Amino acid sequence: MRLPKLPAPPLPAALRPKPPRPGTANGPVGRIDAAREAGTTAVDWVDERTSLSGGMRWLMFRKVPKGTNWFYTLGSATMFAFLSQAVTGVFLAMYYDPSPTHAYESARYITNEAFLGAFVRGMHKWGSSMMLILIFLHMGRTFFFGAYKYPRELNWVIGVVLLVLTLMMALTGYLLPFDQRSYWASVVAVNINGSGPLVGPYLADFLRAGPDFTATTLSRFYAIHMLLIPGAIAALIGAHLYLVAKLGTTAPPWLKAEPESDLRTTEA
Ligand code: HEM
Repeated sequence: MRLPKLPAPPLPAALRPKPPRPGTANGPVGRIDAAREAGTTAVDWVDERTSLSGGMRWLMFRKVPKGTNWFYTLGSATMFAFLSQAVTGVFLAMYYDPSPTHAYESARYITNEAFLGAFVRGMHKWGSSMMLILIFLHMGRTFFFGAYKYPRELNWVIGVVLLVLTLMMALTGYLLPFDQRSYWASVVAVNINGSGPLVGPYLADFLRAGPDFTATTLSRFYAIHMLLIPGAIAALIGAHLYLVAKLGTTAPPWLKAEPESDLRTTEA
């Protein structure tokens, strides 16, 4: 008599084959292939754990309207100028000393003695003018293309705040070399602020850190210039770009809407 075949007992967990790791389905990978794909592997490793690529695709792969031209690069150019200011500013901060007795000497040291100091200080100085020129050109572009209209009003308002903050960067940075010109120019600028209606005197007192220009004024300008405003600008650029990605950019005003028959339909 043949006994019925019993099913095999389940394998203990330790003997069960491990599920293949993602990306290993095609067998072992040679060293050369592994080296060649190291970059992709590293990005995949991060992406598998964070799913950041979805957000990046949302931000970078957007449809842009017909007629998009070089004037649309002015916002990115302004952002590049800001990043350049941030990087050069970090290196300047490594040598700069915001005390009335050392500020001028530390700026002189950066220009005449520190390695590539004149270059970095020059980039920061000319970069500030470049950023202002670019921000005004970018604002002009968005104004003349009507990009401030519904639904982009909030992005325009954020832009206005960014403009004021950029101007404040220029004002607070001007005092830092602490030579005669920068000192007296800042005294004049703060006095002009002080003559403003209602908040003027309070603003001037805040900027001076008191009723007079003192040693604390310099460190106050420095803290505003290198911590407070750059942080606010970075956060607002984030909000600005989020809205650009969410709402898309405006088509040039001279383009007419295409008749529906000429529009391409997207395949499902
Ligand atoms: C730090 C300063 C700024 C940065 C980094 C910045 C960056 C950008 C970028 C990258 C874009 C998308 C591409 C483009 O249109 O150029 C953009 C769009 C826009 N920006 Fe700015 N921007 C700044 C300041 C301003 C200012 C001062 C205004 C106006 C007061 C403004 C208003 C707008 C508007 C309305 C749009 C939407 C454009 C459209 O839909 O066509 N931005 N910005």
